[in-house]
Amino acid sequence: MSALLELQEVSIRFGGVVAISELDLQVPEGSIFGLIGPNGAGKTSCFNVITGVYQPTSGQVVFEGGSLTGLKPHRITQKGVARTFQNIRLFPEMSALENVMVGADARHRTGLPGALLGLGRHRREEREGRQTGRELLSFCAVTESESEAARNLPYGSQRRLEIARAMATKPRLLLLDEPAAGMNPAEKNSLADLIRAVRDRGITVLLIEHDMGLVMSVCDRIAVLDFGRKIAEGTPGEVRDSPQVIEAYLGRPDVDEDESFEQMEAGDAPRD
Ligand SMILES: Nc1ncnc2c1ncn2[C@@H]1O[C@H](COP(=O)(O)OP(=O)(O)O)[C@@H](O)[C@H]1O
Ligand SMILES: [Mg+2]
Repeated sequence: MSALLELQEVSIRFGGVVAISELDLQVPEGSIFGLIGPNGAGKTSCFNVITGVYQPTSGQVVFEGGSLTGLKPHRITQKGVARTFQNIRLFPEMSALENVMVGADARHRTGLPGALLGLGRHRREEREGRQTGRELLSFCAVTESESEAARNLPYGSQRRLEIARAMATKPRLLLLDEPAAGMNPAEKNSLADLIRAVRDRGITVLLIEHDMGLVMSVCDRIAVLDFGRKIAEGTPGEVRDSPQVIEAYLGRPDVDEDESFEQMEAGDAPRD
């Protein structure tokens, strides 16, 4: 599989803080690729540099073989990169359907003058946007009424509505920033199914997520960041077993294990 997205020695500095340091990343087309690491590791900064919110201090972002570096966020959206945010960013007073149609608008060609004059193309785009919006609400299992204000939707539906809106821009690459945050177990299962369904539509997924069960079950490949550097990369099994990852992040031995280890060394019987 060739890389759809490539980060080449990307660094981002904010004053004295190095958020990302010489990061190389290759996201294969058609994969679900996980980006994990402790808080402050630089994961969201990666999304911000890929989507043009920040410019890298050095290095390149390459998408479908062309550089994204220096492009404005809306141009990057038009090229086929969509995202959701760590903190939900819906239009709370707008309906579920309208929120998705805003996503479709990012792709439309009719400018404001055309929209005001009600030109044919604008009407057609509006009709198509509505149809696509309904289809995406159903695909993302937002089962509440399409006319319900976004702020009234249950939390899990709001998260899935954000994904629907991102999908409305017709991306080839979807970036999800902690989509399971705050979800209950049933909502997480439904989210895992949705992420796989997105991939089955031919959309490559780059997933930031803290829920290890979810990450390990859906990702083909995972990169681990710590203090802005990549400390491990591989299949879920490889990453789970990596000593650097275990030390930095996943399985820091808890105090009880240390204690029982010391007790055994001291000749005490281990607790059950
Ligand atoms: N706009 C910004 N200005 C200053 N520092 C920032 C900014 N964005 C991120 N950082 C810093 O960069 C580091 C990485 O942050 P972030 O990418 O949000 O991490 P993560 O998403 O892995 O928790 C943190 O130290 C954070 O404080
Ligand atoms: Mg983050």
